[in-house]
Amino acid sequence: MKALVTGASGFVGSHLAERLAAQGFEVFALMRKTSQDRNLSAVPHRRIEGSLSDEASLRRAVEGMDFVFHVAGAIQASGRDAFFESNGEGTRRLVEATAAHSSGLRRFVYVSSLAAGGPGDGKQARDESHLDQPVSNYGESKRQGELELLKFRDQLPVVIVRPPVVYGPRDRGMFVIARTVSHGLMPLPPSGSPDRKKYYSVVHVADLVEGIILAATAPSDAFASGEVFYLSGDGVHHYEEMLQAMAEPLGVRPWKFGVPKIALVVAAHGLSWVSSLTGKKFALSRDKLNEILPDYWVCSNEKAKTKLGFLPRVSLKEGMRETIAWYREHGWLNAGGVR
Ligand SMILES: NC(=O)c1ccc[n+]([C@@H]2O[C@H](COP(=O)([O-])OP(=O)(O)OC[C@H]3O[C@@H](n4cnc5c(N)ncnc54)[C@H](OP(=O)(O)O)[C@@H]3O)[C@@H](O)[C@H]2O)c1
Repeated sequence: MKALVTGASGFVGSHLAERLAAQGFEVFALMRKTSQDRNLSAVPHRRIEGSLSDEASLRRAVEGMDFVFHVAGAIQASGRDAFFESNGEGTRRLVEATAAHSSGLRRFVYVSSLAAGGPGDGKQARDESHLDQPVSNYGESKRQGELELLKFRDQLPVVIVRPPVVYGPRDRGMFVIARTVSHGLMPLPPSGSPDRKKYYSVVHVADLVEGIILAATAPSDAFASGEVFYLSGDGVHHYEEMLQAMAEPLGVRPWKFGVPKIALVVAAHGLSWVSSLTGKKFALSRDKLNEILPDYWVCSNEKAKTKLGFLPRVSLKEGMRETIAWYREHGWLNAGGVR
């Protein structure tokens, strides 16, 4: 079975490529000229040079594929247009190429995001029947990618998966937080919830890739083309609990302190301004602020469990312990930065 993985050089894509190869799939990795393949050093794969902005490369990439796993996307970008170019237009180009040049396709899986659905009002988990209300350019652009895909739902067997926060070995997003905790600091963002906590669903990358493969390989009558699945781990965690799950394996008792909303707003505006001048991307921006401020980013995995047989196995404590151990083994924490 031939499987194209876009975004294979990245965090989620490399884990997916690794699992697919281990399960006997022939893995084709769409990589840009500049993409590094260190995450794929132990994964049997064929590199296809191309980009979501280059239609000819996408035509070549999708030809003869049994499965397309569209994982590539911009998580940080210099502005709204850049998000829409990668996540909206890039997805449009890829799905158009697939519809025109991949007649034997078994399934096209789009890795979207909980951000495409948006946060919730309270602890009640968002599910697939809820109205989408993305609050950031990133979320809107991922939703736009979904809409581009859904235009082809009658021509191609397509499925959308929406992970919440993903963590695990090789993840740079969570690493930034882990490094702060390792320095004995636990900054807690402001919350307007009754108990002053912020609630999240999370998924370990091993569980996520399992769910993505289940969505791809489920029988054709398991669900209709175009359906959406939230792929989250079990349980709901508050932010402090997630940081505490890092602190334990790090062996630190960090100083907890609240970050005032005004400080976050000023920093986010300042960094966005610098970004607009220099094109540099930062973890904090005005757009990211729109995702940080809501208190509930919780989704339900019930539909994925029922229709796909999705069974997340990794608990937050166990997953964080493994992730911290990986950061240590690979010198990320000891070296004081991402290599
Ligand atoms: N990480 C999370 O917490 C999370 C949560 C929900 C959803 N997601 C979704 O999961 C996907 C993967 O996220 P990740 O955390 O693995 O991100 P990542 O590590 O930043 O990887 C992104 C990948 O996309 C590739 N890419 C970006 N723009 C591209 C383009 N124009 N053409 C071709 N390739 C391009 C990158 O290639 P280069 O190596 O060349 O840069 C990289 O391989 C994204 O679509 C994201 O929206 C992630």
